[in-house]
Amino acid sequence: MDAIPTPDQLRKLDLLANTVKESMRMYHPLGLNIREARTDAILPVGGGPAGKDAISVSAGQMIVYSVAGLQRNKATVGADANVWDPARWDTWKPKYGDYLPFSIGPRQCPGRVFGRFQIQYILVRLLQEFDSIEWCGLGGDDGTEEMKIKVELNLKCAVPVLCNFTARC
Ligand code: HEM
Repeated sequence: MDAIPTPDQLRKLDLLANTVKESMRMYHPLGLNIREARTDAILPVGGGPAGKDAISVSAGQMIVYSVAGLQRNKATVGADANVWDPARWDTWKPKYGDYLPFSIGPRQCPGRVFGRFQIQYILVRLLQEFDSIEWCGLGGDDGTEEMKIKVELNLKCAVPVLCNFTARC
């Protein structure tokens, strides 16, 4: 397909959607997120040695949570939570709160449909314009090193990810 993809066409590409969902699971751009409790509250789970007890939170306390950690949790994703596998989305249906690339609740991202669409569109356009995109390894190494991320307020690749793009003739 050479024509510019339409939203309707993009919506039908399940593998593309699963690839984006899986990449947002493992390499979500928001490394950490923060909330401040407006009132005294009880979080139903997360406390105790097994993380299954309630935690009390006082008004004004800051809660920092890791989106990256949450979305790689083996208890919710599965034993292969650290493996990038778009095919998991054929069967894996995350429960409310186990996968939140656009957050949840009243402050969730209002640009989520547009944001997902933009990524899908750019991926299709890259595949249309280039015959091959070859990974050259991380930061110029021999290509054997594993992908590493740097978790900050915004998550980034720890070292440059270099690729060779070969344009279509
Ligand atoms: C893949 C792309 C995007 C991702 C991963 C993303 C993710 C997020 C997340 C996680 C939040 C919640 C932040 C928090 O809890 O404090 C958020 C909020 C927000 N996003 Fe996005 N976003 C994306 C694209 C966009 C786009 C394209 C727009 C606008 C066109 C947008 C506009 C906003 C706005 C205005 C908020 C603040 C909402 C509020 O606080 O009420 N985002 N986004």
